[in-house]
Amino acid sequence: MPVVAVIGAQWGDEGKGKVVDLLAGKAKMVVRFSGGDNAGHTIINPFGKYALRLVPSGIFSKQTVCIIGNGVVINPEVLVEEIDLLKQNNVDTSMLNISDRAHLIMPYHTLLDGLEEESRGGKAIGTTRRGIGPAFTDKTARLGIRIGDLLDKVAFKERLSSLLEYKNAILTRVFGVEPLSLDEIYQQYCQYGEFLTPYIRETTAMIEEMIDRQEPVLLEGAQGTLLDPDFGTYPYTTSSSPLAGGGSLGAGIGPNRISSILGVYKAYCTRVGTGPMPTELNDEISDQIRERAHEYGTVTGRPRRCGWFDAVAGRFSKRVNGFTGAAITRFDILDTLPALKICVAYRLDGRTIDYFPGNVNDLERCEPVYEELPGWQTPTTDIREYEQLPEPARQYLDRIAELINCPVSLVCVGPERSQTIQVRPAF
Ligand code: GDP
Ligand code: IMO
Ligand code: MG
Repeated sequence: MPVVAVIGAQWGDEGKGKVVDLLAGKAKMVVRFSGGDNAGHTIINPFGKYALRLVPSGIFSKQTVCIIGNGVVINPEVLVEEIDLLKQNNVDTSMLNISDRAHLIMPYHTLLDGLEEESRGGKAIGTTRRGIGPAFTDKTARLGIRIGDLLDKVAFKERLSSLLEYKNAILTRVFGVEPLSLDEIYQQYCQYGEFLTPYIRETTAMIEEMIDRQEPVLLEGAQGTLLDPDFGTYPYTTSSSPLAGGGSLGAGIGPNRISSILGVYKAYCTRVGTGPMPTELNDEISDQIRERAHEYGTVTGRPRRCGWFDAVAGRFSKRVNGFTGAAITRFDILDTLPALKICVAYRLDGRTIDYFPGNVNDLERCEPVYEELPGWQTPTTDIREYEQLPEPARQYLDRIAELINCPVSLVCVGPERSQTIQVRPAF
């Protein structure tokens, strides 16, 4: 019963898309379970290069059923565009399914995301401004509209009209902007609904059936553990859980059905948006990493903050997810560096600590304690066997595995599907 969850272990953009695209070759189903179009999952395979936002990264594997789970919030405009683009490139989307329980991102969500960010001034979260926070807020507040609601136009109009009255009051009276038009939103969303109807269905039974048949299933995470509202650097987080636990909830399967949990870590750290990042560098090494790896946001184009691998945060991620294996990505980016550092502890107010503080102000004051390791200064992009990696490269990986308390299952040595070293079988 192999259900493998692929989870971001840092601040997102770890390379989950690449890992899922690779493993999907052996999977019968891929379920995306959280986030929305704040995600950007880059895939480079024989179909070309894509930055998927909502469609599961398994869509390129012919035999794989893809599901956008109930835990995802969907901007239908983005989804329609994404499906169109895939179709134009001869990618078969007939195996795509959308949970009728997934919530919709409405035009007022995106608008409010931007307005709320501006009102935060210097304390802005640096959101992707895709309406993610406001949509998940409405879900919890029981003010949401679900994609299945588009199937009944009369009921949809009724609900939209009462919700919009409330949203327009906030837009006009709190933020002083123009109200949104009921008719425009209604017409637009009915069109999206018509386009998406063939994909919308109840999905939990499909997933259960696949698992009962012992078929390999992947759960595709979005964002990363350190952006989780509970365990991330709150309030500088996203609004749904990127954790393996979120996978159970956002796909609609029992936690006991997940058989292994793959934590995806970059070989160093990056972060987009605001909030503490203890190992952040602002020197020629971070500039070198950013340019070599083109560390700019997939969704927003913002430069990503770069720094050394943080094993304190990494161990914490392993704990709260229960990772059974680690995928280390972007390993080749370190190929040119003469020496590498790993953060093994923090100094906080004169004390050495080995845990990831829950309070963001404490984390902000943490100074990394580094261990230095030699670089390998040899290209690794063509290596496919762990044993063929240069000794210092293996030493770096082994040390990370030891510090995060999790074996390395996969090493990525380039962005393409084939540029991967499989240390242990995923299924
Ligand atoms: P995701 O959001 O976790 O799917 O990650 P993103 O796609 O946002 O960012 C990861 C970036 O790293 C993408 O540009 C990938 O093409 C790239 N990538 C993934 N694995 C590797 C790797 O091993 N080496 C290099 N050089 N790039 C990689
Ligand atoms: P993938 O799936 C990196 C970050 C934003 C911001 C914070 C809150 O590609 O790894 P939000 O729009 O979610 O309210 O923004 O979370 N963020 C991501 N950073 N990768 C992502 O997704 C992200 N999704 C959200 O930059 O700091
Ligand atoms: Mg990304």
